[in-house]
Amino acid sequence: MTYVRNAWYVAGWEQDLAPEKPFALTILGERIVIWRSASGAVHALEDKCVHRFAPLSLGRCEGAHLRCLYHGLLFDAGGRVVDIPGQDLIPARARVRAYPVEVRHSWVWVWMGDAAAADPALIPPAVGFDDPDYILCCGFLDYQAEARLINDNLLDFSHLTYVHANSFGAGPEFAASQPRITPLARGVRVERWLENTYGASNRKSDVPIDAWSTYDFLLPGVLLMWSANYPAGTARRLNHAAPRMEEAIAGLNFTSQAVTPLTDRTARYFFSWGPHRNFGDAAMRDHMMGIAGKAFAEDKAMIEAQQRVIDTTPAQDVMPTAHDRGVTLFTRLVEKLANAETMERREAVAWRSSR
Ligand code: FES
Ligand SMILES: [Fe+2]
Repeated sequence: MTYVRNAWYVAGWEQDLAPEKPFALTILGERIVIWRSASGAVHALEDKCVHRFAPLSLGRCEGAHLRCLYHGLLFDAGGRVVDIPGQDLIPARARVRAYPVEVRHSWVWVWMGDAAAADPALIPPAVGFDDPDYILCCGFLDYQAEARLINDNLLDFSHLTYVHANSFGAGPEFAASQPRITPLARGVRVERWLENTYGASNRKSDVPIDAWSTYDFLLPGVLLMWSANYPAGTARRLNHAAPRMEEAIAGLNFTSQAVTPLTDRTARYFFSWGPHRNFGDAAMRDHMMGIAGKAFAEDKAMIEAQQRVIDTTPAQDVMPTAHDRGVTLFTRLVEKLANAETMERREAVAWRSSR
C-alpha cells in the first residue's frame, strides 16, 4: 500500500458522529477509535487498549476521557492512562497513540502521519453542509478494492462514456475529448469544456450549450468539483479558459468525494453532491442523488471486478493511454511524497539509534 501518511484522511461525516458514541474505523491498516465528548470536542486514539488489547471503541465516554470497558483503564484524549482501577501507580508506558483530528466542511479528518507535522491548513477546502450556497446530501460506500483504484477512476473521467452511459448519461464526447490537466502542489486540476452539447444527467438542455467542469483531486484522495452550463460559444469566447461561476446559465452544482484506504484491499468512499441554490432545490438534490447512487454502484462493480482480476493474475505493468495523464501525475506525486516520508522515518530511527 503506497499512500502518503502526512495528510488528512476523511474518517466520516460529522453528522454521523453522535456525542459520546465511540466508533471504530481502520485507516491505512491502523485501528482507530473516534469519539465526540459531551463538550463537542472530537478525539481519535489507537483502538487497542494498552492493557490486554481490547478495542477502546467498545468503551465508555467519561467527560473528555474514554474508559476501556474490559478492566476499566481510563484514557485521556492524548492517549495517556490516567486511572487503573485497584492500582495507584501508572506506568510511563501506559498510553496509546493519539491521532490529530479535525472537523471541517462536515467531514471528520484524521492525520495519519507525524503528529508534529499536522497542519489544518492542509485540509482540502471542501464545501460542507454549513455552506449556505449549496443544497447537498451525502453518503458513503464500502469497497472491496484498494483505494488506489478508486483514485485512478476519479482521475480519468473518460470512463463516464462507458461505465456511466445509463446513469450520468455521458455521451461519447467524454472519451473523445481531453481535459486540461494542471499539476498542483498537492494534487492535480482537471478542467473540461464540452462545447455545443446538450449536457447530461441533472443538467440536460433543450438547446446546445457549453458544459464546463473543473475539479481538484487532492492528497490523500479528495475530489472537489464544480460543474455548470454556459451559453454555446462561451468556451471559444474565453479561449477555453475557466469561466466565472456567476455567469453560469444552468446546472451549477458541487460534489466532493473522498477515498480513504481502510486496509490494502478495502476502502471507504465518501461523497456529497447537490445544486447551487440559485439553480436547484431539495427536489433537484434528491433527483441528483438518485442518479449518483446508480452511477457510484456502476463504478463499484467495475472497480471491484478489476481488483479481482489484479488479485488472481500475475503482476504486470499497466498500459497507459492519453487519458491517464492525471492518473500518472497523481501517482508520481504520491510515490514521491511517500518515499520522502519513508526516508525521513529511516533517518530519524538511525539518528535515535546512534545516540
Ligand atoms: S484490556 Fe482494557 S482494561 Fe484490560
Ligand atoms: Fe465513475
